Amino acid sequence: MTFARAFAPATVANVGVGFDILGMAVQGAGDTVEVEMRAEPGVVIESIVGDGGRLPLDPEKNTAAVAANAVLKQIGAGQGVIIRLHKGLPLNSGLGSSAASGVAAAVAVNALFGSLLPKVALLSACLEGEARVSGYHADNAGPSLLGGITLITGTDITQIYHLPVPEDLELALVTPAVDVPTAQARAVLPKSISLHQMVEQTAAVARLVDALYRGDIAAMGAAMEQDRVVEPARAHLMPFLGEVRIAAKEAGACGLVISGAGPTLCAICNSPHIAARVAQRMKEVYDEQGIVSSVQHTRVDRYGAQVELLEA
Ligand code: HSE
Repeated sequence: MTFARAFAPATVANVGVGFDILGMAVQGAGDTVEVEMRAEPGVVIESIVGDGGRLPLDPEKNTAAVAANAVLKQIGAGQGVIIRLHKGLPLNSGLGSSAASGVAAAVAVNALFGSLLPKVALLSACLEGEARVSGYHADNAGPSLLGGITLITGTDITQIYHLPVPEDLELALVTPAVDVPTAQARAVLPKSISLHQMVEQTAAVARLVDALYRGDIAAMGAAMEQDRVVEPARAHLMPFLGEVRIAAKEAGACGLVISGAGPTLCAICNSPHIAARVAQRMKEVYDEQGIVSSVQHTRVDRYGAQVELLEA
């Protein structure tokens, strides 16, 4: 019997100033989904591992199942699928965990039915899953699906832009053991901003995009930290954000931002050994405060979700 197995990487959404429009895929951890056909229509979740029993098996409430169902509808499949979800990403951590599950499920279902849709056409299905749990935003699902650093202004191919990844860009990520549900982190945001804030924010996004095109990691770090809207509203949800930023900079980071809705923090660096040192220093800040944390130093994943067809 044939089944499909897909892997979707973690993502750093927003990249600081680009709230809901910028995101980057990250090498290393991600979620894996296996799907096989069933004769009856619809989606059944057979198992979820790696979530500590926290995710619902109800296909109406599970990101992966919602995305899988959306692809089945998109391709007009008469049959359904059985899903096995392997969570490699912690929940509510700011690493795009729910998006990765949806992306892996969508890509796996598409492959199982003969890859009728190009990858990019799966984005809207992935977002149906994401919207069910954390609100409608594409800055995790887009880069997890497509890889690289992406500017996402809509779900159509004409609204997705691949930005250049600076050659020497290295990432240091720290995830403290603190739960920050995305819905809660979105609820604390201001409903409107002043014209002055709008000008500052658009200027910072423009500087960030310019820095990427020039491959200037120092300028990238400076621009991405210029968020005067979202980070100030959320900072109280991220323990010791200021202290970790100072420690990361002292260890050589070019900049540090909240990854997505947090609490993971992402520092950017221009060499692997600096990124390793920055990761270590960030962890020490949490250690000193008695907060358990995990760290990794990694790079941008340029490829996004990957899938293979296998025989059982
Ligand atoms: N752009 C979203 C937010 C990402 O910051 O709320 C959530 O992972």
